[in-house]
Amino acid sequence: MVQVGTDVQKAKELLEQGEVIGMPTETVYGLAGNALNPDAVVKIFKVKNRPSFDPLIVHTDSLDKVETFVTAIPEKARLVAERFWPGPVTMLLPKKSVIPDLVSSGLDTVAIRIPHHPLALKLLSILDFPLAAPSANPFGYISPTTARHVAQQLGDQIPYVLDGGSAQVGIESTILGFSEGGPIVYRLGGMTLEKLEAVLGRIAVRSHSTSNPKAPGMLSSHYAPRKPLLLKTPQEVLKMHKPERIGVLAFDELTRLIPLENQQLLSVTGDLNEAAKNLFAAMRALDALDVEVIVAELLPETGLGRAINDRLRRAAFK
Ligand code: TXA
Ligand code: MG
Repeated sequence: MVQVGTDVQKAKELLEQGEVIGMPTETVYGLAGNALNPDAVVKIFKVKNRPSFDPLIVHTDSLDKVETFVTAIPEKARLVAERFWPGPVTMLLPKKSVIPDLVSSGLDTVAIRIPHHPLALKLLSILDFPLAAPSANPFGYISPTTARHVAQQLGDQIPYVLDGGSAQVGIESTILGFSEGGPIVYRLGGMTLEKLEAVLGRIAVRSHSTSNPKAPGMLSSHYAPRKPLLLKTPQEVLKMHKPERIGVLAFDELTRLIPLENQQLLSVTGDLNEAAKNLFAAMRALDALDVEVIVAELLPETGLGRAINDRLRRAAFK
């Protein structure tokens, strides 16, 4: 059975043996393995039940190490790295051959980030290899923001989850790439577009594309609870379901129309950072209720609201 703890040495030893483990980051928990060991990488895809055409993010703890994995760091990428790493932004950079093709699914770029989490940084600093880590959820399900989420879903397949508490950002990293036309965000995430644009100027957003898995980014239907999630108001759904069979994901206000125990409030004060931090745990809690549908409202399309709305739309996509 899986062990959950804070023993960084133990995590290190398991990773050196080619095992995969749960790892905390500031965004969501990762399913981590030695990025330079193809056997460990294969294990990650297997445990997660992830299609091999969907590439992984490589985690490390310094820009010096990044230089050993990529052939170039464009000027704009360097600016972002200096300003926002460690932090919730992942950059697509031209890869060197030390990174196995499996990691990048055959693409010539590799996704890299330095996570902003003390235990993760400690672990990365004592390893002599980087860690490939997708979010530690079964493919297509909601990402985990606590060690318990990981243990509950993948516990029978991995030996250890390094427990770093609740993820402080709560939503996956922003994925940023560079083309001749300028910077492109392929996934909205924990680093807001506003902050990136303050450093880079105008950025194109291409995160809504893709049911084409070869394209960078991700599949449309994702982050989904098992119960249908509808972007509707409780009033609309009450025509078809009894109040006690409806779950509500509310931003900053509860409704009187639905029993209280069926409602999850993201932030009483309407704070988007707090809402992001609570989002995935709230979706899990609603999914565990005996309800027929979950209804959710979209949040203001600004700051982390953009990334939250992106996750809600994907969760609602059928
Ligand atoms: O916050 C995060 O990014 C978390 C934590 C654990 O770091 N990780 C995460 O990984 O969300 P994952 O595997 O669930 O999502 C990685 C995304 C995928 O949508 C993948 O398609 C994209 O990154 N990606 C990875 N490498 C890529 C590449 N070379 N080009 C385009 N997209 C890439
Ligand atoms: Mg994921």
